[in-house]
Amino acid sequence: MKRKLYNSLLEPLEHELVRMARWAKANGERICVLLEGRDTAGKGGTIKAISARLNPRQCRVVALPKPSDVERTQWYFQRYVPHLPAAGEIVLFDRSWYNRAGVEKVMGFADERQVANFLRNAPVFEKLLVDDGIRLFKYWLSADQEHQEERFAERREDPLKRWKLSPIDVASRTKFAEYTVAREKMFAATHTEHAPWTVVDYNDQRHGRLTLIRNLLDRLPDTHVPDEELAWPELGHEPLGEEHGQLH
Ligand code: ADP
Ligand code: AMP
Ligand code: MLT
Repeated sequence: MKRKLYNSLLEPLEHELVRMARWAKANGERICVLLEGRDTAGKGGTIKAISARLNPRQCRVVALPKPSDVERTQWYFQRYVPHLPAAGEIVLFDRSWYNRAGVEKVMGFADERQVANFLRNAPVFEKLLVDDGIRLFKYWLSADQEHQEERFAERREDPLKRWKLSPIDVASRTKFAEYTVAREKMFAATHTEHAPWTVVDYNDQRHGRLTLIRNLLDRLPDTHVPDEELAWPELGHEPLGEEHGQLH
C-alpha cells in the first residue's frame, strides 16, 4: 500500500482511537493488547501507529528484555503482572508471555516441561484476567518467509533500522519452520473462548496495521464520551513578561 493512501486511511482511525481512549478513561476500562509474530512482522510499527496520538501516560508500551536471573526463578507470569493495565489504561505488549511458546522454545531458553506447563497454564492465567474485566486482545502478525528475508536485508543495510536486528533474529532466521510448528502448537493450546487469537496478514505492513486497528476498534463498544468542557478565559490586554525582552 502506498504511503499516501495509508495516511489517508489511518487518519480517521486515529480519531476513533482518541475517542476510544476518552471512553476508556471515563469508564475506567482496562485494555490489554498483545502483539505477537515472527521477527520483522511489524509489531513495533503497529505499536507506534496505535500510540502516536494517545497520551503516553494512558497508553503504555511494554517491551520487556530477556528475564533476569531472579526473574528466571519466579512464577513465569510474575514479571508480566505488574505491567497489566489499571483503570483507564491501554497497554500494548510488544511480545508477551507468549515468548515461552515461541522464541524460548525454539531457541532453547525453556525446556520441554516449561513449554508444556506454559501452554496448559496460559489459558488459565488469561481467564483470571478476563474474569476480572480486563479486555484482552491477542494478535498474531503473519508474514511469510520471503517478506521476512526482504525486511532482514533492509535492516542490515539501513543504519536507522540496524538496531532492530538482534543476534536472536540472526539465529532465528534459519528456523522458520520450527517457529511455524511452535506457533501451531501455541494456537491449538491457547485459542480459547475467553481469549481468542486474531491473525492479521502483515505481508503488507501498512495494510496489516489498518486491519488490526479496525479490528480492535470494532471489538470495543462504540460509546461516545463528549470532550470535557474547558473554561476559556479571555486574555488581558497588557502582554505579560515584557521585562524579559525577546524571551517568550
Ligand atoms: P526483538 O525481536 O523483540 O527486538 P530480540 O530479537 O533480541 O528482540 O529477542 C527476541 C525475544 O527473545 C525477546 O523478547 C527477548 O526478551 C527474548 N530472549 C532473548 N534472549 C533470551 C533468553 N536468554 N531467555 C529468554 N528470552 C530471551
Ligand atoms: P461489552 O462490554 O459487553 O459491551 O463488550 C463489547 C465488545 O467487547 C463485545 O464485542 C465483546 O465481545 C468485547 N469484549 C468484552 N469483553 C472483552 C474482553 N475481556 N476481551 C476482549 N473483548 C471483549
Ligand atoms: C517487528 O517488526 O515485528 C519488531 O520490530 C520485532 C522484531 O523484529 O523481532
